[in-house]
Amino acid sequence: MERVAHLLSESPEETELLGEALGRLLEAGQAVALAGELGAGKTCLVRGLARGLGVDPSVYVSSPTFTLLNQHQGRLTLHHLDLYRLGDPDELVEVGFDDCLRGDGVTVIEWMDRFPSEAPPERIEVTLAFAEAEDARRLEVRASGEGHLRVARRWAALAPRVVAPR
Ligand SMILES: Nc1ncnc2c1ncn2[C@@H]1O[C@H](COP(=O)(O)OP(=O)(O)O)[C@@H](O)[C@H]1O
Ligand SMILES: [Mg+2]
Repeated sequence: MERVAHLLSESPEETELLGEALGRLLEAGQAVALAGELGAGKTCLVRGLARGLGVDPSVYVSSPTFTLLNQHQGRLTLHHLDLYRLGDPDELVEVGFDDCLRGDGVTVIEWMDRFPSEAPPERIEVTLAFAEAEDARRLEVRASGEGHLRVARRWAALAPRVVAPR
């Protein structure tokens, strides 16, 4: 996993815009693993990402906390997973996680850090954390694999607020 950038978002709208920019850049078969506490902004980022992938803006993207997997059709299919309530990694097999990763859509996983050994080896990883101001969040971006690194670097280059790592 290579460190790519530290980004700062100062509002939910800004996090969505960051997600949208990433959604425009993602390529078929790529995966994004999201980490960070409840309320850190993972779903907010995915909401923007969906828009960037061309998912119908009238679709409201929410955490698939109970369903584990939501899928939305866009320029590429978005497979959106949330592992918050996952008890056993075997459930991932049942839900078709491997098919998502092998297919030509984009797979985005909230709470991937709960099951690190199940994470796809090549991925963009975004860890969101609460920052000083109430509506501020830090996004630590890392990536592994040539294609994912390229997209992550392009994304970071577009981001309005790249901050120094702490
Ligand atoms: N800069 C920010 N980025 C994202 N969300 C923010 C930000 N500032 C405040 N918020 C709020 O934090 C909450 C994030 O919720 P959500 O995206 O569902 O988090 P998670 O999926 O990580 O649990 C929302 O209520 C959102 O309005
Ligand atoms: Mg969420």
